[in-house]
Amino acid sequence: MGHRCHDEKPSFNLRKLIQLFFFLMLSPLALCQLSYKFYDYTCPNLTRIVRYGVMSALANDSRMAASLLRLHFHDCFVNGCDASVLLDDTSSMEGEKGAAPNRNSVRGFEVIDAIKASLEKACPYTVSCADIISLASRDAVYLAGGPCWSVPLGRRDGLTANKDGANDDIPSPFESLQNITAKFTAKGLDIKDVVVLSGGHSIGFAQCFTFKQRLFDFGGSGIADPALDTSLLQSLQKTCPDQDDSDTTLAPLDPVTTNKFDNVYYKNLVSGTGLLQSDQDLMGDNQTAAMVVTYSKYPLLFFRDFGASMVKMSNIGALTGKDGQIRRNCRVVNN
Ligand code: HEM
Ligand SMILES: *[C@@H]1O[C@H](CO)[C@@H](O)[C@H](O)[C@H]1NC(C)=O
Ligand SMILES: *[C@@H]1O[C@H](CO)[C@@H](O)[C@H](O)[C@H]1NC(C)=O
Ligand SMILES: *[C@@H]1O[C@H](CO)[C@@H](O)[C@H](O)[C@H]1NC(C)=O
Ligand SMILES: *[C@@H]1O[C@H](CO)[C@@H](O)[C@H](O)[C@H]1NC(C)=O
Repeated sequence: MGHRCHDEKPSFNLRKLIQLFFFLMLSPLALCQLSYKFYDYTCPNLTRIVRYGVMSALANDSRMAASLLRLHFHDCFVNGCDASVLLDDTSSMEGEKGAAPNRNSVRGFEVIDAIKASLEKACPYTVSCADIISLASRDAVYLAGGPCWSVPLGRRDGLTANKDGANDDIPSPFESLQNITAKFTAKGLDIKDVVVLSGGHSIGFAQCFTFKQRLFDFGGSGIADPALDTSLLQSLQKTCPDQDDSDTTLAPLDPVTTNKFDNVYYKNLVSGTGLLQSDQDLMGDNQTAAMVVTYSKYPLLFFRDFGASMVKMSNIGALTGKDGQIRRNCRVVNN
């Protein structure tokens, strides 16, 4: 048995009832910031329902852990963590699903839909889609062998998507570390968060086109990226031959422990086997390289810092109070 991961469940006693009274009295105030107890009285089974939904999804498709984690990242970097990424296109609004970083790439929408449907039965009109994504990504990482952290709750769902924001604000694997760091600092995160959250690439897959340039024509040089380990280079050249029809073939971000959330990602960077150029670039700067080496040696430090950076990321631009709404269906704004 590993350590357990759950949030505290409410039990009814006098103290709790008094707390409930004050909670209701003060709710306009209390609703203005995120809280660990936000749904304790309104949806006591929330964390169990989300956990069950994520477990079912992983039993069918182990990659879904990675996909849910990435979904949260792509939500939070555009209009804040407001579930804007879940909105389908409408006649008057282009959603984020069609933006370059997301198209044919971001996954997990059906999993969130299924969890939302269960929640609408257990506690209708209550739980935001933004909170579901945040809890589901926490559970996904934990169930993949990673750390557990407590998720502050009470986010509300946005009223619109922002396709341009998705194109502009989500980092690309072809960008410099400096540019990627600038995109993080624009969201209130820092260089340490860049290194720590890049550890999300401990699980999941990337399509060949996101790193193929490194295999054949690095920076227009006509040769492979010299930072790439030779035997990995040969194996990736087989997976992703230099023809367009290999563009969407998948390669694991961490070929050593592909489905296990651990610190092997950092060990790979130290040995020159990072998959994306943006991953391996973390070794090209003294400050970030020192952090990579530290996380490659201290898995529990990485776990602790990952939880802390995830909480930071999941607070970006959170809508609270009367802002936004609680969507009935995560794909459409309530009318
Ligand atoms: C630092 C800048 C980042 C860049 C440039 C980047 C880029 C990418 C790219 C290109 C892919 C492959 C997508 C595809 O081929 O369809 C990917 C996958 C992934 N990314 Fe990132 N990413 C970054 C940060 C993050 C962060 C902060 C997280 C979460 C904490 C994350 C989690 C993931 C996961 C889990 C996958 C695999 C998804 C799956 O298999 O479905 N990434 N990323
Ligand atoms: C919570 O789930 C348990 C077990 O599934 C169930 O017995 C109980 O009725 C649920 N409580 C609420 C308030 O939905
Ligand atoms: C199971 O996973 C596959 C993809 O791996 C997906 O197409 C399918 O819809 C999933 N089924 C269920 C019941 O979630
Ligand atoms: C970094 O950002 C600047 C300004 O947006 C851009 O001109 C430049 O091409 C980017 N460089 C890389 C390597 O991403
Ligand atoms: C980074 O490390 C290299 C080699 O150890 C050193 O030459 C260089 O001055 C360092 N750069 C900075 C900015 O500290």
